[in-house]
Amino acid sequence: MGVRSRILATFVVGSLLLSGVLFFLTFTLTRTNLREQEGELGLSNDLINETLNSVRASLILATIITVLVGLMLGIVSSERVVRPLAGAANAARAIADGRLDTRLEPTDDPDLNALTESFNDMVARLQDRVERDARFASDVSHELRSPLMTLAASVEVMVSRRDELPERGQAALDLLVADVARFSSLVEDLLEISRYDAGAVRIMRDQLRVAEFVEQAVRASTLARSPIHIDQRCTTTTLSGDRRRLARVVANLIDNARLHGGGSASVHVCPAADSNSHVWIVVEDAGEGVVDTDTDRIFERFSRGVGASKRGASEGAGLGLALVREHVRLHGGRVWAESRRDGESGARFIVELVCETAAP
Ligand SMILES: Nc1ncnc2c1ncn2[C@@H]1O[C@H](COP(=O)(O)OP(=O)(O)OP(=O)(O)O)[C@@H](O)[C@H]1O
Ligand SMILES: [Mg+2]
Repeated sequence: MGVRSRILATFVVGSLLLSGVLFFLTFTLTRTNLREQEGELGLSNDLINETLNSVRASLILATIITVLVGLMLGIVSSERVVRPLAGAANAARAIADGRLDTRLEPTDDPDLNALTESFNDMVARLQDRVERDARFASDVSHELRSPLMTLAASVEVMVSRRDELPERGQAALDLLVADVARFSSLVEDLLEISRYDAGAVRIMRDQLRVAEFVEQAVRASTLARSPIHIDQRCTTTTLSGDRRRLARVVANLIDNARLHGGGSASVHVCPAADSNSHVWIVVEDAGEGVVDTDTDRIFERFSRGVGASKRGASEGAGLGLALVREHVRLHGGRVWAESRRDGESGARFIVELVCETAAP
């Protein structure tokens, strides 16, 4: 039973008990008085019964009114008690959605003030902690950036003189090149994520022709020869978006197809299934597909699907899809993963974006 129902029940039962006791006492006293005075005043039995009947009727009416008043008071009081709780629940929901500057309004009720103050205090600390964590990731990435650039430049010099190295040195250099590249991309991803956390992301909007843009992004990706299918209805579709970030979205999905999806990808551009004002960019592969229970989780930070380690694709940090989701959200769109629809094995990542020129 909820708090509201409990308060209501208390009021109703209380008023019932009160009016029941009053009913019993008033009726018994009246009857005793009348019976005592029956002889003295010479009241007839019929008159006494009639009087008792009208007293009983009045008492029943009074009981009903008392219970109704009790019910109304119960409703008003339960509303008053529950309102601050509903306020706290709404605030907690807003905080969970990332609005960390949400606070409860102070009240003039001293009992509630203690709750309000400790709630606001807790949120202030949480906000401070989250901001400190975000700053930490950003500071660390910044600090790592310059030595990493020096390292990358030195490695480049060594690569240009690779032939002069002995065979074992060449193998070590290759490992170093791969690791420096991986490290650089991890630091860049961390910096980008911390920009989102700090709310310091500035979107640079351009008017993009979706078909052309996707073609360029795929050609610049690690699977540049991937087939691209543009739906007839989307040849003239445009959208307003951040070219660099949307290109990263396509590049990350293609990288994933290469590393986790069997090594090949095909890209489709088509109108969204249920909306004329949205366009889909779909990246499909022919790998094992994403395990059902993973389809949401893989978009979380540092989350790597159960298959990743099995397939030996150990390079990733698990930030790629988290960034894809942030970039797509920044554009007011959404992204999700599912199995291929043609019955073949493989994953299908769908990016849904608002388009300006709706497909005809
Ligand atoms: N096309 C795909 N097919 C099957 N599993 C995939 C596919 N794409 C991603 N995954 C799973 O989702 C996980 C998370 O992907 P995400 O891109 O975020 O990280 P990553 O590729 O492991 O590392 P990073 O992208 O940071 O280098 C992967 O580890 C993999 O298990
Ligand atoms: Mg990835």
